[in-house]
Amino acid sequence: PPSHFITTADYSADQLFNLVDRAIQLKVESKYQYPQPSRERPLTGKTLALLFSKLSTRTRVATESSVAYLGGHAMFLGSRDIQLGVNESLLDTSRVVSSMVDGIMARVGGHDEIELLAKESKVPVINALSAKYHPTQILADLMTLHEHIHHHQHGKKDQYTAHTQHPSETLPGTKVAWVGDANNILQEMLVSFPKLGMHLSAACPQGYQCDQDVVDIAKKDSQATGTDLVFTTNPQDAIKNANVVVTDTWISMGQEEEKAKRLKDFTGYQVTMDMVEKAGAKPDWSFMHCLPRKSEEVDDEVFYSDRSLVFPEAENRKWTIMAVIDALMVKGGI
Ligand code: CP
Ligand code: NVA
Repeated sequence: PPSHFITTADYSADQLFNLVDRAIQLKVESKYQYPQPSRERPLTGKTLALLFSKLSTRTRVATESSVAYLGGHAMFLGSRDIQLGVNESLLDTSRVVSSMVDGIMARVGGHDEIELLAKESKVPVINALSAKYHPTQILADLMTLHEHIHHHQHGKKDQYTAHTQHPSETLPGTKVAWVGDANNILQEMLVSFPKLGMHLSAACPQGYQCDQDVVDIAKKDSQATGTDLVFTTNPQDAIKNANVVVTDTWISMGQEEEKAKRLKDFTGYQVTMDMVEKAGAKPDWSFMHCLPRKSEEVDDEVFYSDRSLVFPEAENRKWTIMAVIDALMVKGGI
């Protein structure tokens, strides 16, 4: 059976560090032409189908531009383009589409949908977001943190040198604080950060809890690596001593009807300078957000500040997605 990329929970710390390292190499090769731009076209004549049942800016642009760089063809199949969900089942669509293409990148509703697709597909399947997990986002977050820590340690902002250090040398020991919903982004962090030796504290309002299987994985990993893992309802507790503060929308795609209730339940969770400084984050704390962003979860002062890594984080979706495509469709596995 083909290898897939459904969640980072399926891969070891070394495999994840190496994927991030590969993404950094691809960025250097493509943007900084160092040591030599190879521009091999390993996907010549190959097709990746983008089966997206929800909207996307970053994931779509990152994927289509990556496939073009590698010489292949990306075929965007949105919910208004194909029979899926209107006249045809996911099962039949999976069998048909996978018989004609070399890879599938799918953005779905329930996580069972991406699992069904992976089970039925004859070609590699990449999870482009499900209600449970968002693995390619978390690779981009790791890459962005690696670059940030590397440049911080080496004091070279004018020159791109992040490829001279392996992510396994920068990321362990980082303390990440999550303030927000118990959603797909937090869940993907939970199944990867503790395994990578990173500390994670999550503040979610009362009544907003991660899936039990996800919590179990995080607990087991944090015990194995000796990292701190904290769940709280108090943003201040989560932020104390954090290197990074992360949030996301309070209303994920598919939850639009819960908007009024959620806006009320998340009162006091907006990330502001005042909140983070009162809570006692590390003096050089940074801010991250997967985007798209609304001002209710983080104000403009933080979002557009020098502490904010959100735009490099968005760009890094491209290099990390390219690394996953390269692993699955060129090299044959992660
Ligand atoms: N962060 C992210 O996945 O963005 P899109 O929904 O625009 O792809
Ligand atoms: N939690 C958000 C992430 C969007 C990239 C959602 O699922 O809509």
